[in-house]
Amino acid sequence: MLPVGRFSKTDAWIAGTWTDPGARFRVINPATGETIAEVADCGPEEARRAVEAAETAFRAWSGTSVYERSAVLWRLRDLMLEHREDLARLMSLEMGKPIKESRGEVVYAAGFVEWYAEEAKRIFGEIIPASTLEKRILIQAAPVGPVYGITPWNFPAAMVTRKLAPALAAGCSFILKPAEQSPLTALALAELLHEAGLPPGVFQVITTHDPAGVSQVILDDPRIRKLTFTGSTEVGSKLYAQAAATVKRVSLELGGHAPFLVFEDADLDKAVKEAVTCAFRNTGQTCVCANRIYVHEAVAGRFLEAFVEAVRGLKVGDPLDESTDIGPLVDQQGFDKVKAHVDDALRRGAKALLGGTPLAPGGRAGGYYFAPTVLAGVDAAMRVAREETFGPVAPVLTFASEEEAVRLANDTPYGLAAYVFTKDVSRVFRVTEALEYGIVGVNDGVPATPQAPFGGVKLSGVGREGGTYGIEEYIERKFVSIKL
Ligand code: SIN
Repeated sequence: MLPVGRFSKTDAWIAGTWTDPGARFRVINPATGETIAEVADCGPEEARRAVEAAETAFRAWSGTSVYERSAVLWRLRDLMLEHREDLARLMSLEMGKPIKESRGEVVYAAGFVEWYAEEAKRIFGEIIPASTLEKRILIQAAPVGPVYGITPWNFPAAMVTRKLAPALAAGCSFILKPAEQSPLTALALAELLHEAGLPPGVFQVITTHDPAGVSQVILDDPRIRKLTFTGSTEVGSKLYAQAAATVKRVSLELGGHAPFLVFEDADLDKAVKEAVTCAFRNTGQTCVCANRIYVHEAVAGRFLEAFVEAVRGLKVGDPLDESTDIGPLVDQQGFDKVKAHVDDALRRGAKALLGGTPLAPGGRAGGYYFAPTVLAGVDAAMRVAREETFGPVAPVLTFASEEEAVRLANDTPYGLAAYVFTKDVSRVFRVTEALEYGIVGVNDGVPATPQAPFGGVKLSGVGREGGTYGIEEYIERKFVSIKL
């Protein structure tokens, strides 16, 4: 229930004003089914006002010095860390992330703000040697313009700052439409950015229960010059088509189906530990969670035994409880998908070595809980082996050779993250080079970090977020040719 510490805002943040459009939608605590807030339900009218304000604010913000932008970002970073506990509680309440992980997410999210507060000062141009003496060739950097960002519920803070921080550093204004399940963290960030000194209209948060209606207005407007989206491939490809009509720059971070390869020479203790984190982090609700664990047949028995024991040790419970490792799924739709995937696998002959059923921890009704599940005897036809489950489910399969492991790993239309566990350095190069993925963790189940580029290939998206590559997504390179 609100307030959580200093945070109590439920209105939309448009043109520097807390705005009540009249209508409201409910934000539900997925652990209990209780309503925790009624949030502004914006529509096309608010969307038009936000575009207008973003355009005006862009003119002023893009004219500030990079040192000014950097200072605002540093203040935001400090405020986020100062209010770490309240931000963490807010996101645990609205989307069910275990509190230990929510605290980690605040630090991760603030890490993007810190990184781009520094990177703002390093948006360099170039001088390129011309082919004749009377010419000079300059490359200037310019912000792309007002940006429209759509963020998911699974990282209510970090997926916002991963987009917003480089955009602000580059000199862009930004309209954010957060997921309907987790608007409160986004509104809290707006409050902190205002306190950090960001001028009105540079960052706006348009909360809505009708994302398609709001997005239509914003994407149809030629003044919005960039779309950045994290979410499903299905929605992302529709937005891509919509953005094409006004030829916007686009970054899409879409679904994945991550293979986790454990070779016969791997450090098995390490592989088990990292597989548990990778598959069950955020209750299995990340785009980079291990979806298919492939283990060499020579070590599969030993791996499975230790893996099942480790997963058995995960504690399911209230996200606000310090000892909870696994919280609820975000909503009914998420719960139904996980159940359908597991039921499909069991019906087709897979065996649940652990879990396989919904749960009601402590006898509490109303929460979308599913037991941490390990499936053996999985084959390629099962939905768990082909589609992103987005839940606490780890299907384990086997392979006989390196060539087979790579072929199975690449046998998917997705290409976001893959994982390789081996001690053989030559194999590290062979396999990482052969994997058709944007991110590869070698003996590392959680590779994402603010300074490195995050993003996928194939149906997993276009563009990169994080590091120097992440800021280029918000910069136009202008070629200036000077004849002396
Ligand atoms: C995601 O699930 O899209 C983000 C995961 C991460 O940043 O580690």
